[in-house]
Amino acid sequence: MVSVKPFLDLFRGSRPARPPIWLMRQAGRYLPEYRETRKRAPSFLDFCYTPELAIEATLQPIRRFGFDAAIIFSDILVIPDALGQPVRFVEGEGPRLDPIEEPSHLSRLASDLDVERLEPVYAALRGTRAALPDDTALIGFCGAPWTLATYMIAGRGTPDQAPARIFAYRHPVAFAGLIERLVEACTEHLMRQIEAGAEAVQVFDSWAGILPEDEFRAWCVEPVARIVWALRQKHPQVPIIGFPRAIAGGYRAFAEATQVDALGLDTAARLGNAVEELDDRVVTQGNLDPLVLLAGGSALDHALDALLAVTEDARHIVNLGHGILPPTPIAHVERLIERVRG
Ligand code: CP3
Repeated sequence: MVSVKPFLDLFRGSRPARPPIWLMRQAGRYLPEYRETRKRAPSFLDFCYTPELAIEATLQPIRRFGFDAAIIFSDILVIPDALGQPVRFVEGEGPRLDPIEEPSHLSRLASDLDVERLEPVYAALRGTRAALPDDTALIGFCGAPWTLATYMIAGRGTPDQAPARIFAYRHPVAFAGLIERLVEACTEHLMRQIEAGAEAVQVFDSWAGILPEDEFRAWCVEPVARIVWALRQKHPQVPIIGFPRAIAGGYRAFAEATQVDALGLDTAARLGNAVEELDDRVVTQGNLDPLVLLAGGSALDHALDALLAVTEDARHIVNLGHGILPPTPIAHVERLIERVRG
């Protein structure tokens, strides 16, 4: 079967004439059409759980820019929500959950993921897949267990995720139990996304970089390795992208331990070192500074030229080191795509 999707071709070993491109958070507030669609749902989670709206938001950046991949419009926090820890989003502030302050609070969580609650996400994947152009790949995703646990324990975002780190030191057995439950929930959610049409999946470990070595291995590397292993049993052909944000090196060790097919690189990652270390065994993605995309002009052109030069002989997916920022001008995104596609 001949694929016409440059994003997927890269994982099958071929190097397309130009690198594929998509952007983290490509559906979002920098797009006027997103801000319009957003008004049609009473809350952010209602938006995620209404297939018609989620499909529309997923397709908007594809219609406007023709990215090589669409990422399903959803959020990593649907997993705690479907484990019986309700999530709300406070406008301009971020997510709020009832915090898990002590081990006894873990009994409030359901033992199994409520897949009924997540059915709209799978419906949105099926609808998006049917509507996407033939050359656009569809990406599903989840938050990694550690990153999910940080929000579940603190009940919100914090600058350093101290509540989860303290909880894990004080209650290692209870914390391991939570991570275990999240490994199962992430596996189930990704499996169902693949069955609904996701052609690749990304595991967002946004808070991986804050842990000391032993904790990083126990709470980030091992859980992600177990998710990858379980997915491979059933869907060996589906590429898995790891995004252990801000780990500052050790990419080869991470890739070998987890067996991911690709590594998302944050902005501070040394791209040249990462590419060299990975030695073409693993696809790389990302690294472009979201702030240089926001700033535009010659700084953007130079940053992109440098990135393309370093990755010329590598299998690299052009993307940002973190999500696109709401004030980013659309003209800068157009400029980026134009230059990548030469
Ligand atoms: O990339 C995409 O376009 C797909 C959709 C997507 C969203 N969130 C939509 C969203 C993805 C992949 C995510 C991942 C996500 N969500 C992460 C991991 C990546 C990262 O950014 O580190 C995390 C930590 C979350 C949790 C989350 N969701 C926070 C902390 C916030 C509030 C901060 C903010 O940017 O507002 C959200 C809200 C959210 N998720 C928005 C979007 C488009 C903005 C809310 C809105 O539009 O009203």
